[in-house]
Amino acid sequence: MKLNQNFKNIKESYLFAEVADRTGAYAKLNPDKKILKLGIGDVTLPLAPAVIEALHGAVEDMSKSETFRGYGPYEGYEFLRESIQGYYRARGVELGLDEIFVSDGAKSDLGNILDIFSKDNVILVPDPVYPVYVDTNEMAGRKVLFANATEENGFLPMPDYKVKADVIYICSPNNPTGAAYNKAQLKEWVDYANKLGAVILYDAAYECFISDDSLARSIFEVDGAKSCAIEFCSFSKTAGFTGTRCGYTVVSKTLISDGMNANKMWLRRQATKFNGVPYIVQKGAAAVFTERGQREIHKNLDYYRRNAKLIADCMDRLGIKYTGGKNSPYIWLKCPRGMKSWEFFDYLLKGAQVVGTPGAGFGENGEGFFRLTAFGSEEVTKEAVARIEKLLTE
Ligand code: MLT
Repeated sequence: MKLNQNFKNIKESYLFAEVADRTGAYAKLNPDKKILKLGIGDVTLPLAPAVIEALHGAVEDMSKSETFRGYGPYEGYEFLRESIQGYYRARGVELGLDEIFVSDGAKSDLGNILDIFSKDNVILVPDPVYPVYVDTNEMAGRKVLFANATEENGFLPMPDYKVKADVIYICSPNNPTGAAYNKAQLKEWVDYANKLGAVILYDAAYECFISDDSLARSIFEVDGAKSCAIEFCSFSKTAGFTGTRCGYTVVSKTLISDGMNANKMWLRRQATKFNGVPYIVQKGAAAVFTERGQREIHKNLDYYRRNAKLIADCMDRLGIKYTGGKNSPYIWLKCPRGMKSWEFFDYLLKGAQVVGTPGAGFGENGEGFFRLTAFGSEEVTKEAVARIEKLLTE
């Protein structure tokens, strides 16, 4: 037996596992200290009442033989796909029901989608970026090229026609930088991908944080995207499903290469390796799209937006440069006093018992930056902000 040698090329531990380990080690040595966690983007508010009611209803369904469900459709129940279709239609994007695939989350699909692409594709990933894009490609032995996201380009790299990419990753609003492309900028990426015959893997997990109309919430709002893009969405950040697990991926039927249809291939892949999301969870997810569900999840999103503003205002007072915080739950800040990312991580943990995510963990260009999330509770965010301010003005 020989194990996958490509694992030798990836970092020994996943970024958020390393943050958790280092935090755990500090907590063990300092059991009296209250640690405030603004590291991983995990939500804190409970599920919306409309979702809870739907979940209870679905549990009842499972208790009666007339409404009991066994295996569901590989691509998700029609009731949920119809709700998703309606959500897109409200923004002027028309999708076929058979272009929507329900999954257990964007992270899994972003990794799994690689099954339908050839090993020898050239992969283009922004740096810094959500580590899953790079790690999943490197695990499969693919070489990854990077598009520099820097302060100079506002962390929004644009296409470079000298680079011949086959698979392009875009996350907007971006994790970790919080920067978001406007429609004109996305159109440039779509034109580049169509010209090269490339595909854009568009991670829209944070679309619900967009409040500025010039920004696209879906890449399919941009002309030409249907022939070059796959979109990954999640209920995690939208509706607090990080522990409940549900997402969806849109693969257009017009995404074709060498006569092969990506939509059919994805269905084939899912039917082979995936038995779908639990009926109960899909019922909960469908409730998100009802009028009441939307009202309730927006109330929660506003709560996180207020947290983002608390952090952003603190950075303003401290004179620390940052992106995000608006149209995004992440604040991406430049480490003060010229500190490196992990150095600032230790400084904050030891000096204020606040945990964030070191920018260097998202790529080389993330060195010297640091990410704070707005997904904590209001109480924790306020206290963390006060502690950071005290530490940095001492
Ligand atoms: C993050 O903190 O970047 C996210 O929570 C990770 C994820 O969504 O998997």
